[in-house]
Amino acid sequence: MDCVVELAGVTAGYNNKVAIEDINLCIKERSFTGIIGPNGSGKTTLLRVITGSLHPFTGTVKVFGHPPIRVRNRIGYVPQFFNDDPYIPFSAIEVVLFGLYPNIGMVKRPGHKDIERARQALDTVGLLDKEGEPFGHLSGGQKRRVMIARALAGDPDILLLDEPSSGLDVKSIRIILDLLHRLNTERNITIILVTHNINQITSYLDYVVYMRKRIYVAGNPKEVLSKEVLSELYGAPVDVFERNGNICVLVEDSHA
Ligand SMILES: Nc1ncnc2c1ncn2[C@@H]1O[C@H](COP(=O)(O)OP(=O)(O)OP(=O)(O)O)[C@@H](O)[C@H]1O
Ligand SMILES: [Mg+2]
Repeated sequence: MDCVVELAGVTAGYNNKVAIEDINLCIKERSFTGIIGPNGSGKTTLLRVITGSLHPFTGTVKVFGHPPIRVRNRIGYVPQFFNDDPYIPFSAIEVVLFGLYPNIGMVKRPGHKDIERARQALDTVGLLDKEGEPFGHLSGGQKRRVMIARALAGDPDILLLDEPSSGLDVKSIRIILDLLHRLNTERNITIILVTHNINQITSYLDYVVYMRKRIYVAGNPKEVLSKEVLSELYGAPVDVFERNGNICVLVEDSHA
């Protein structure tokens, strides 16, 4: 199959207000795509349209050749925001099990097999030793990894992640990006990642989409991550250079 995600002429938004407009997009099987763009440019809206949780005003969305809702068990989604209240009354493994509820059904209790799948997903993200810990007691980076495990528990073929590294330190970001790279190359999961941390990720990316309500530019990282485009994105002059296969971006602080 050529495009595992295919959007044609998609316009979507909220209460008749357009948030993304005329989106045409083809995501290739087993590729690793980065979505970048300023705040409010429609990145989360785009992911919601792909997962089927938001219906477009116009245009068509296909995932594995079908409307997203029909293949939702093949789609893993790590949302930008989630409840991380320290008093949240669930353990790490229970949070992962919620990811299986579309499969288990809300009224049924998880069986042996479900618990085993949840444990395997926690093992994949390196947190099996935390399975019984209250979710709210984990660090920010660990919570993000539990959320990735939750999306992985259903054994998806495509994984969409909305800024999974925001607010994390450099080491935690590295752990998450390396995990995504492994899922992409070893398990052949197609990955779509919304991120602001492009410096650490460009060597893994096949494709970059720069959103600004419309697709402003899309292509391979070298094409898209040019000085001109990134100065536009950050609203400040930038320097772009290459190091260890990564494209690095240095933003000049205009207030310095
Ligand atoms: N639930 C909602 N109801 C109404 N308007 C919304 C809703 N969610 C987003 N919007 C609007 O849609 C537009 C795009 O928002 P979206 O969340 O997709 O942007 P984003 O690129 O993900 O931003 P950020 O980088 O801040 O996460 C914005 O103008 C936003 O105000
Ligand atoms: Mg967002």
